[in-house]
Amino acid sequence: MSVDAPESEKSGGETVLVERPESGIAVVTISRPDALNALDEGVLDALRAAIDALAADESLRCVVLTGAGKAFVAGADIGRMSTMSPREARAFAEKGHRTLDALEALSVPTIAAVNGYCLGGGCELSLACDLVYAAANARFGQPEVKLGLIPGFGGTQRLARRIGPMRAAELVLTGRMVKAEEAKALGLCLDVAPKGQVVDHAMAVARTIAAMGPGAVRLAKTVMARGVEAPLATANAYEREAFANLFDTADAAEGMAAFAEKRQARFENR
Ligand code: CAA
Repeated sequence: MSVDAPESEKSGGETVLVERPESGIAVVTISRPDALNALDEGVLDALRAAIDALAADESLRCVVLTGAGKAFVAGADIGRMSTMSPREARAFAEKGHRTLDALEALSVPTIAAVNGYCLGGGCELSLACDLVYAAANARFGQPEVKLGLIPGFGGTQRLARRIGPMRAAELVLTGRMVKAEEAKALGLCLDVAPKGQVVDHAMAVARTIAAMGPGAVRLAKTVMARGVEAPLATANAYEREAFANLFDTADAAEGMAAFAEKRQARFENR
């Protein structure tokens, strides 16, 4: 399946590709390599359409997100932004936020395979994913202040939640670029794969997740995401409720029976 970018005349053609290389796993590729996959309205619309289609797919278990060519995503489209009025910029930021919110809200886990530059809106895209792996040549950063701007797709908020307020402040205030190993030390990514192998690395993790109890994986993600924004007692109540509800599922019965019978569980999303 591939999704056309309805508005992206500058980028032209298909800017977001969705492939299903293996059962239950979707690979979404931002593909505008001549502009290092910069996000304009058309790319955001195509990404949103892809996310909405994935959200409706009950057979889906995990999503891997990556970029075509030498970048993951080098940010929002600077050429496009240079002509925006404040009103257009607000609409652009709202579109970016809605798209990343939809990505974050996918009930299945999302894995960013950061294959190169991951800057500005690209870094913000990785922050909306559950897990992030980087290639050795990846570069992370929120360089907006160099342009006289600030992050506009959630970077001032999600970055601090992921790596802590002081580390986030240093990156956002200096705009400096971070190499893959430092990104790992900061918590921007979980691990570093050799150049050219990060999608394979992410696929291996996706495969592991896809083999687990599907309802359990979805609920674990949902409960963790809801819990982060709630007081601990409320968050723990979410967990107890979800834990108990799983005992109503055939997959939990199958998973525990398989353990007792010393065999591989056969989950059927029931
Ligand atoms: N927007 C539009 N075009 C971009 C782009 C962007 N964010 N990043 C790169 N490109 C384009 C370049 O203009 C260039 O196009 P041409 O060949 O037509 O000149 C092409 O991609 C290749 O880029 P470079 O020649 O610059 O490649 P490089 O290897 O020399 O440098 C780079 C790579 C360091 C990433 C450099 O391109 C760069 O600094 N890009 C901008 C990064 C940036 O500032 N990102 C933040 C954008 S603001 C934002 O994202 C706001 C927000 O939060 C919503």
